[in-house]
Amino acid sequence: CERLEGRPLRQRLLVVANRLPVSAVRKGIDSWSLDISAGGLVSALLGVKEFEARWIGWAGVNVPDEIGQKALTKALAEKRCIPVFLDEEIVHQYYNGYCNNILWPLFHYLGLPQEDRLATTRSFQSQFAAYKKANQMFADVVNKHYEEGDVVWCHDYHLMFLPKCLKEHNSKMKVGWFLHTPFPSSEIHRTLPSRSELLHSVLAADLVGFHTYDYARHFVSACTRILGLEGTPEGVEDQGRVTRVAAFPIGIDSERFIRALELPQVQDHVKELKERFKGRKVMLGVDRLDMIKGIPQKILAFEKFLEENPYWRDKVVLLQIAVPTRTDVPEYQKLTSQVHEIVGRINGRFGTLTAVPIHHLDRSLDFLALCALYAVTDVALVTSLRDGMNLVSYEFVACQDQKKGVLILSEFAGAAQSLGAGAILVNPWNITEVAAAIAQALNMSSEEREKRHKHNSSHVKTHTAQEWAETFVSELNDTVVEAQIRTRQ
Ligand code: G6P
Repeated sequence: CERLEGRPLRQRLLVVANRLPVSAVRKGIDSWSLDISAGGLVSALLGVKEFEARWIGWAGVNVPDEIGQKALTKALAEKRCIPVFLDEEIVHQYYNGYCNNILWPLFHYLGLPQEDRLATTRSFQSQFAAYKKANQMFADVVNKHYEEGDVVWCHDYHLMFLPKCLKEHNSKMKVGWFLHTPFPSSEIHRTLPSRSELLHSVLAADLVGFHTYDYARHFVSACTRILGLEGTPEGVEDQGRVTRVAAFPIGIDSERFIRALELPQVQDHVKELKERFKGRKVMLGVDRLDMIKGIPQKILAFEKFLEENPYWRDKVVLLQIAVPTRTDVPEYQKLTSQVHEIVGRINGRFGTLTAVPIHHLDRSLDFLALCALYAVTDVALVTSLRDGMNLVSYEFVACQDQKKGVLILSEFAGAAQSLGAGAILVNPWNITEVAAAIAQALNMSSEEREKRHKHNSSHVKTHTAQEWAETFVSELNDTVVEAQIRTRQ
């Protein structure tokens, strides 16, 4: 990239996502403590040496006062983060409403809200208005910090309106947009009242990326069928302007997991866990407590397995880590009660005075504890009903070089396309099939496990998060920026 005098040597990358990779806790009128979360995107970008990344996003807290906002902005600047301040009402309508109650379930094939999830059409409209308003607020912050030569990478379904807002302000800005969820079949997308406006807006970007080829194909079909545009080998064409559309499957920083397993405290924890579950096979689920993860289906399949295989009843334990998420959305609250009820019933049915078959935890584990748990696991169970990629399956594989455990993986997770040959693929809706897969995994020979692990491990180690980010940004840099952006719809 061309460098201007006085500018940093590396190209600046403005990463815009709904959430900043920090959790901020207010300690006083003008003081904050920040905890950086090392999620997939963060480690991907930390590994990219070519660019100097800045993050723009919501800090996840309501800061109504100017003193608090100034102090938080200053604290975040040290972490290269720039906040977008959203008030409670916007968060309610944009984040809880349009993002999590409408787009999230729709993109995961769970359909649009029924009457109990959305009282009137008016509330859909006001949620969409808040969504556009919030996206414009993100755009205002990007515009304020943008310098010529920067690349702007927008993330996820929260910010589908952002590419249009940015390009209308500055048509020369390099803008990429990446979706971390599935993009559903155009027949699902077309039920969305704001279907065309959102598609047009995403098409304002120079490069549009998805985890799998199928999601990219669905997006192109939606543009051709709903908007009547032309699909080309490159992407989508609208009056001579082509928006490039492609698949960029994300990965993880597998080395970080492998290094963690060598730490003495992790090895001690591994020993403790082995002692704790001595004589029993360990099955593991790690999910956000979200309806797309298929947690009730997983637990019911485990119950069926115990029912059909009395031999295994006191020789296997299912550890389910269910991280609470979006707890203000009623659907998530209902799911929590439903899962608790099923777990209680099964533990009552198959538990003994000294042991229960399911250990269910409603909380997250820190990174090192999670690594130790992955390492002692015999069978990991990923039963997503739909999932953009599912990096838990990658993390499990990264921690299994010694044990060579088995991965049972939903065919509806993006990861099924990359880890399918090494995993046992299942339809999570078919509880009998999942129960049979559990039996197959627990009885699998060590030769077979080794062969399957080798396949998955080589994929996870070579398709890293860093490579994903580098490929996306370099392709974005290679796209031709249009001087003109047509305002659509
Ligand atoms: C999914 C989305 C992310 C989101 C994450 C956590 O992975 O693709 O964009 O950040 O869930 O959800 P939350 O609503 O807590 O940000």
